[in-house]
Amino acid sequence: MNDERQHKSLWTVTTPPRDFPSLPGDLEVEVAIIGGGIAGLTAAWLLKRAGKKVAVLEMHRVLSGQTGQTTAHLTELLDTPYTTLLKDFGEKGAHLAASSSRAAIEQIASLVETLAIDCGFTRVPGYRYAETEAELRELLHEVSAARQAGLLATFTKEVPLPFPVKGALRVEDQAVFHPRQYLLALADRIPGDGCHLFENTKVVDIHDGTPCRVVTEGGTVTAQAVVEATTTPLNRVAMHTKLYPYRTYSVAAPLEGPLEPGQYYDSRDPYHYIRTQQVDGVPYVIVGGEDHKVGSEEDTTSCFAALEAYTRDRFPVRRITHRWSGQVIEPADGLPYIGRNVGSRHVYVATGFSGTGMTFGTLAGMVVSDLILGNENPYAALYDAGRVKPKAGARDFIQENAEVAFRFVADRLSKPDGHHLADVAPGEGKILEVDGRKVAVYREEDGTPHAVSPVCTHLGCHVHWNNAERSWDCPCHGGRFSPTGRVLNGPAVKDLPSRKLPVK
Ligand SMILES: Cc1cc2nc3c(=O)[nH]c(=O)nc-3n(C[C@H](O)[C@H](O)[C@H](O)COP(=O)(O)OP(=O)(O)OC[C@H]3O[C@@H](n4cnc5c(N)ncnc54)[C@H](O)[C@@H]3O)c2cc1C
Ligand code: FES
Repeated sequence: MNDERQHKSLWTVTTPPRDFPSLPGDLEVEVAIIGGGIAGLTAAWLLKRAGKKVAVLEMHRVLSGQTGQTTAHLTELLDTPYTTLLKDFGEKGAHLAASSSRAAIEQIASLVETLAIDCGFTRVPGYRYAETEAELRELLHEVSAARQAGLLATFTKEVPLPFPVKGALRVEDQAVFHPRQYLLALADRIPGDGCHLFENTKVVDIHDGTPCRVVTEGGTVTAQAVVEATTTPLNRVAMHTKLYPYRTYSVAAPLEGPLEPGQYYDSRDPYHYIRTQQVDGVPYVIVGGEDHKVGSEEDTTSCFAALEAYTRDRFPVRRITHRWSGQVIEPADGLPYIGRNVGSRHVYVATGFSGTGMTFGTLAGMVVSDLILGNENPYAALYDAGRVKPKAGARDFIQENAEVAFRFVADRLSKPDGHHLADVAPGEGKILEVDGRKVAVYREEDGTPHAVSPVCTHLGCHVHWNNAERSWDCPCHGGRFSPTGRVLNGPAVKDLPSRKLPVK
């Protein structure tokens, strides 16, 4: 049966799959990198280029995580407004956040040029627009904060959108590209000269030490340093109180009328993110949004419906040709955590990229490779994974962790809706009760039912059914499992165990 996610991105369906081997047994390298997304592949390439022997360990296929599901705006307009960054990190911090995003865009541009990667990399302007007077007032503050942080930002009423807006923050020299074309070109260059890229190689444990030991299902990799580039780290608790998983949705549609190449963002909360891209000669508009806390939306197909309606309402399109969704990880104080893991000597993490993980993932590769190589990096202190900012994001910290605690208790105590096995329709998943114990039941299209434990193997919260992607999603830290319980997304590493099927 096909128990993979349902929706594939425009990037995935327009590039050929790759087939890297899995780890055949024990191995020794200088740096072990867990995760074949933008953060892991960038770190691997920069370290290999500097002469290190690296091994990338990917549990599924490279770029099958959030990087394959991205919309790939390369932007200095961060999810955390510059007004907030100035308040929480000071002028120097806001400046560094802006200049590090610029450095990441330029890092990608330089690799595209030096390696001659054909990925449609194009410089475009970015616009954050206001549709109401209240949004406009906030936007004007953001324009001056962005300028104070060093962005080439201006306010404009000339916004090349096919619907009326009150005005926009315009920022120059942002970029768009085809993320899989770019990153497959890096992935293809990793094997060789003592370096490796392994797929279908799940890391189940990491031991810090001299050397470190990275335990996989196929063997143990020993290394002087380990990079956890797994979207959200595998460690059990320390980082997870500071990371909040959100689901976000995207659609792509061929343009049937003019839309100036660019990036566009509305000012709603959650906001919509829009951009253009030419793929195989077809001009597309790509629209994302409808974000919600993982596991909090009963009917995730309604998020796609809302996004499609938004797209059809505003842009010259007739057919929505691609739909996909994924997760973004929000950091507690508004900036990612990149650097040595808390309490570790040789294990590095790269996480909390929000909706700008193309630049932050690239930056993570730059910062972590510099730390491992012993080079100075101007951004390392700002993104230090062990930093404590008690005031920044304090309200969110309390609310988000209270919600995790609530989910942990409430989902255990709640009674399932009294459904029986016969109520689970083909293609559907439901939580049922068998002999006083909850089970997560999924029925295949051909009618075959499967039952697994609903208790997430990370820290024990109960999973929720995601009907759009047909997966069991954990509301606490974003772990995801296939309908039959296979791990799709960390931080969980163990599958959901099978359970006895209800008799009726
Ligand atoms: C719909 C959507 C739109 C987005 N739009 C944008 C945008 O426009 N601009 C932008 O900058 N960012 C955007 N983002 C965010 C960005 O895509 C992500 O932040 C970024 O791709 C994360 O990269 P990563 O390398 O950290 O993680 P991933 O790409 O998720 O890679 C992590 C990898 O680690 C592997 N892994 C996990 N656990 C293990 C294990 N135990 N053993 C081995 N391997 C493991 C996973 O399989 C995965 O392949 C968007 C995200 C989504 C979902
Ligand atoms: S309890 Fe942490 S991801 Fe499920």
